[in-house]
Amino acid sequence: MVVGRPSSSVACVVVLLAAMLSTLGLSPCCCVSAARLAGGGARRREQQQLHPVILIPGAGGNQLEARLTEEYSPSSLACLVWPVVRGRGGWFRLWFDPSVVVAPLTRCFADRMTLYYDRDADDYRNAPGVETRVSDFGSTSTLRYLDPNLKLLTGYMNVLASTLEKAGYEEGFDLFGAPYDFRYGLAGQGHPSRVGSAYLERLGKLVESACAANGGKPAILVAHSLGGLYALQLLARSPRPWRAAYVKRLVTLSTPWGGSVQEMLTFASGNTLGVPFVDASLIRDEQRTAESNLWLLPAPRVFGNTTLVESRYHNRSYSAKNMTQFLQDIGFAEGVEPYRERIRPLVEVLPEPGVPVTCLVGTGVDTVESLVYGEGGFEAGPEKVVYGDGDGTVNLDSLVGPIKAWSDSPAQVVEVVELPKVSHSGILKDKSALDQILRVIDAINLNATSSSIHPSIDCFK
Ligand SMILES: *[C@@H]1O[C@H](CO)[C@@H](O)[C@H](O)[C@H]1NC(C)=O
Ligand SMILES: *[C@@H]1O[C@H](CO)[C@@H](O)[C@H](O)[C@H]1NC(C)=O
Ligand SMILES: *[C@@H]1O[C@H](CO)[C@@H](O)[C@H](O)[C@H]1NC(C)=O
Ligand SMILES: *[C@@H]1O[C@H](CO)[C@@H](O)[C@H](O)[C@H]1NC(C)=O
Repeated sequence: MVVGRPSSSVACVVVLLAAMLSTLGLSPCCCVSAARLAGGGARRREQQQLHPVILIPGAGGNQLEARLTEEYSPSSLACLVWPVVRGRGGWFRLWFDPSVVVAPLTRCFADRMTLYYDRDADDYRNAPGVETRVSDFGSTSTLRYLDPNLKLLTGYMNVLASTLEKAGYEEGFDLFGAPYDFRYGLAGQGHPSRVGSAYLERLGKLVESACAANGGKPAILVAHSLGGLYALQLLARSPRPWRAAYVKRLVTLSTPWGGSVQEMLTFASGNTLGVPFVDASLIRDEQRTAESNLWLLPAPRVFGNTTLVESRYHNRSYSAKNMTQFLQDIGFAEGVEPYRERIRPLVEVLPEPGVPVTCLVGTGVDTVESLVYGEGGFEAGPEKVVYGDGDGTVNLDSLVGPIKAWSDSPAQVVEVVELPKVSHSGILKDKSALDQILRVIDAINLNATSSSIHPSIDCFK
């Protein structure tokens, strides 16, 4: 692999293949942070103890490993032998591996990424013969590098993590990462989510140990995109005393509190973003199977009965309230039951975090607001796309609307910071965004939170 600027096509494919909203936004490679002097961290620690920070990535920013068992039935000879080089125990990188842009491998990749809804178990599971795992839980390494072993192709959360390190944070001491299998989701009460629930438990333990390792100082959760929805669920499902003891503040970046209209495009057409050499339908079929993508469809609570999609072929228009009809009409009947039973009850309410929250949101970037499909139906792709305000991926209504309900509650501290012209993933690198994140964290560490919060931006006016 070449050190240097990844080709724009790789970046595009990364974006394309991201099974949902979050894009990796690759940037030129740069070298690993300078080696630390032995004992430096310990010395610093005696002088100054910081509130630990836990980074929770958006969907595409996680890395997944897989291994294949005897149960696996390869769909082609290529899938039987690829990848040739595998690690101990047969593990190899499933997401993200740039070689999936090679056409025959795209198919193997899509097969292995596909989730299945098991109706009897009322839960999702992997494809037969495919085991997956998230490596390096607790570390930020898999959130920072496309290839964490070689520290190549920096991107995603690397700029943010490095910014925190420059501000005095140290990997493994007071800076942690909480990656997860982003294909899975959570479900409404009473429905099992083996993978998603196990993640929340692991995340909760990480929060507790980070706090314990830092003199009992509660943690600051910094979550991007889908990561914010997971963080909120962790808080909502924890007892109040736990939250108070362990979590100082939730800082969300570009979190789609009520889903996004672009997700309907992903379900209907696949989201190829114009990349010519990847089979859109293959990717679309795989994208549809990810439970997290159902989670990110526009929520009725936010989008109401506004028409989001029109199909002249079906003579129908669909609002967020018509999602099961929409899933049916695009030819994804398999999604109807899990959406109706598991996802709709989950997105019906947006529980209060119960800890102070800062929501950073990009605005003023063209964002898909509605779609018109013509006589050719959904297969033919949209005839017309209408854009509105948002961060380029998530609509403004979804970024800020739902938070209004929280700010009505006297006990709930909410701060919303709008960042003009900052995109969904650009928020992880943009100077104004990084400055805001540091401001919030510094204020907490200086024990001056209440006085330093800018009232400068008020998105509720
Ligand atoms: C949309 O919903 C509102 C209330 O939720 C209702 O008053 C209105 O009539 C609805 N509009 C349509 C076109 O159904
Ligand atoms: C849609 O409407 C047109 C004319 O209004 C009609 O010819 C067609 O059969 C209708 N299609 C469906 C699926 O109802
Ligand atoms: C969409 O939902 C509304 C309100 O629930 C309903 O009146 C309408 O018939 C539905 N449309 C479709 C296409 O299902
Ligand atoms: C500052 O620290 C004191 C004592 O540790 C605590 O009681 C107080 O709530 C803190 N203030 C803020 C704004 O965090």
